Amino acid sequence: MKKIIAANWKMNPKTVKEAKILFQKVSKIKSRKTDIVIAPPFVYIPFLKSKNVKIGSQDVFIQNAGPYTGEVSPSMLKSVGVKYVIVGHSERRLGRGESNELINKKIKSSLESGLKVIAVVGETERNSDEFWKFLKKQIKESLRGVKRKYAKNLIIAYEPVWAISTSKNRKKASPQDIFEATIFIRRTLLDIFGRKTALATRILYGGSVEPQNAKDFLEIEGISGALVGGSSLDAEKFKKIIKAAEQV
Ligand code: PGA
Repeated sequence: MKKIIAANWKMNPKTVKEAKILFQKVSKIKSRKTDIVIAPPFVYIPFLKSKNVKIGSQDVFIQNAGPYTGEVSPSMLKSVGVKYVIVGHSERRLGRGESNELINKKIKSSLESGLKVIAVVGETERNSDEFWKFLKKQIKESLRGVKRKYAKNLIIAYEPVWAISTSKNRKKASPQDIFEATIFIRRTLLDIFGRKTALATRILYGGSVEPQNAKDFLEIEGISGALVGGSSLDAEKFKKIIKAAEQV
């Protein structure tokens, strides 16, 4: 199974000119064992094309057309060449108040439209064992009713919110923290989809993935790639992370 290194550019860079320059540098990289995904802001999507890179979006709406001012639908994204959508990032869950229920609808409508979904899950804090309950509820509610036949297009990104580079009081997640979470996530997927699908679903890690630590994260058993924020805005850093994925 191929690894996935996905770039979440968030609301960056500031102009389409800068976006094109960054994209051009990154899309020169050829990878054999890794799918490279770049998720730029919506408006830049039509300007960024490459054989080596798949385009993702950072969000999506739940309907395909209609009176929904400001929204962008799965079918619109497909029509401009988008292959992946990131759904449920903490900056949307916490920053935009998106509930598990809304995320669930976004996941289902995207999968039904033929997009691959990177569904982001992760606890806000890890102070006590309570967070396992939180994580289970988040996963179960976000994936409720997703048909098994779509599960091959579902990728989970485990992003402990406390480990994201821009979090206040950021702490680094240890390989042990991540390993335990992947086992827990897979067990939850097993409850939802059964064993075969649970074993086949790729789980990415996200949260301060940088060139110097990428290999340590990518070597964790059960991890099939990374969702990269800050380091994806620097072409050299991002290339190094892809290189690390190719070596693992
Ligand atoms: P980071 O962001 O790599 O800057 O920690 C990850 C993310 O928020 O997706």
